[in-house]
Amino acid sequence: MKTHLVFTNLAGIETELLAVLAGDAQKTKGSAAKPEPVLLTSDAAVKAAAATVLASGEFKAGANETLLIHAPAGLAAKRLLIVGVGKVGKATAHSVRSAAGTAIRFVKPRAVRDVAFALPVADELQPGPCSRAAVEGAVLANYDPDTYRSDRKDQSVSTFTLLAPAQENVAAVELAFAEGNIIADSQNFARELVNEPGNKLTPTILGQRAAAMAATNGLKAEVYSTEKLHELKMGAFWSVSQGSEEPPALIVLTYEPDGYDPATYSGPVLGLIGKGITFDTGGISIKPADKMELMKYDMAGSAAMLGAMAAIGRLKPKVKVISVVCSAENMPDGKAQKPGDVQTAMPYKDGEPGKTIEIINTDAEGRLVLADGLTYARQLGCTHLIDAATLTGACVVALGPVNAGGFSNNDETYAKFHAALEVSGEKVWRLPLSDEYMEQIKSDIADIKNTGGRWGGAITAAEFLHVFADETPWIHLDIAGMAWYEDTKPFIAKGPSGFGVRSILEWVRSYAQ
Ligand code: BES
Ligand code: MN
Ligand code: ZN
Repeated sequence: MKTHLVFTNLAGIETELLAVLAGDAQKTKGSAAKPEPVLLTSDAAVKAAAATVLASGEFKAGANETLLIHAPAGLAAKRLLIVGVGKVGKATAHSVRSAAGTAIRFVKPRAVRDVAFALPVADELQPGPCSRAAVEGAVLANYDPDTYRSDRKDQSVSTFTLLAPAQENVAAVELAFAEGNIIADSQNFARELVNEPGNKLTPTILGQRAAAMAATNGLKAEVYSTEKLHELKMGAFWSVSQGSEEPPALIVLTYEPDGYDPATYSGPVLGLIGKGITFDTGGISIKPADKMELMKYDMAGSAAMLGAMAAIGRLKPKVKVISVVCSAENMPDGKAQKPGDVQTAMPYKDGEPGKTIEIINTDAEGRLVLADGLTYARQLGCTHLIDAATLTGACVVALGPVNAGGFSNNDETYAKFHAALEVSGEKVWRLPLSDEYMEQIKSDIADIKNTGGRWGGAITAAEFLHVFADETPWIHLDIAGMAWYEDTKPFIAKGPSGFGVRSILEWVRSYAQ
């Protein structure tokens, strides 16, 4: 999809479809109250064209509600689409992101290939953040995960033109628009990876895809496998991989800001660690067949990191970033690890012993690969860590498909992440860590065990990772419930969400010097 930003009035725009947003200004409550949709534009011609239908009361301007008018009087556009954002005064840039997505997904099956979108005008909406959000919403909505359908009809929209009123901050709006393009492209890259089935995206192939992405985005890429895992003594990571014919991939991408000099650089080094299980059968503690096919998305944490790295390479924040992706296939096999086995994780310092882990359940594999990933990132000099993983079903039980779980050992670091969520529009709910939960993962025969029983499953998994992050400021995102949308939404296709890319990127940018 080509995207353009034009500063202009709306009436004269020749387009197949012009989308304009509306909010609901109704103040009184109760069923008798009439909706009061108001257009978020100052364009008199558009207001006139929509006046009759808005007065009819059949459109309430609820979030992502749509109303289509053909041949709108007085406008050069062939169609006028009104998209609701909910209550006036409460709309945010994120409402605009969804509304732009809704416009794109509205037209996709209707063979409209060219969409113009009016940047909304309202007191609470800033033109910069809203242009970014609008183009993000549009680019994300244009994606459909139908790659492998041979009867696939490409319904993609070919041009999206954002129409902004003439204004003073042209440069800021242009910059935000360009950033939005990059960010949404990067998120779609993550979604493409997550959508790939296990047979088409093995750890080796994930390594190749990451390296190719790195080459086009100015990142350094190193892709290692079995030998390197043994060399680094990554006994936890290897234990997951050992039951598969497919070799593991340890992917390390490095981004150095312009003018970076290792001798003088004193800024933070951010570590982005991703769980990259390309398929999770559960191993010997095998999963039930029902919905197992979805376990191809068990590499969504690594896709989120790779997506964020793609954006980092293009947006060039002034901070060093290293991404460590731990990719393996979790399979049952004659060589697979067994419940009761004891594994030795990678030592933080050479010569020191690694932590020993009693394997209670081979299906708790994500924390094993991440344990070594976190240690390796610390060894590479990362001063702050963030990991993302489809880690526990318990997190989905706790928060549903609405919020990801967030955990941190450092309030200052988490505060920066919390602020990033405001920009990204993604939802993460912070859950607690504390020593009491650590009790649940103490083992009788080893340092720790890899499951903590039924209660607080998302938290005991996080506490397991905490052992390896240790005191390095760290954030853990459990995205099990957010990485794959099971329901169709008006603004985005169901399937791979690319969740995390925007927030992780924004968190990284908050450290730029
Ligand atoms: N990949 C799963 C978690 C998961 C569940 C992701 C649902 C997405 C949707 C993870 O490896 C796993 O199997 N976790 C177990 C841990 C348990 C054995 C302690 C779980 O959540 O059941
Ligand atoms: Mn598992
Ligand atoms: Zn898993």
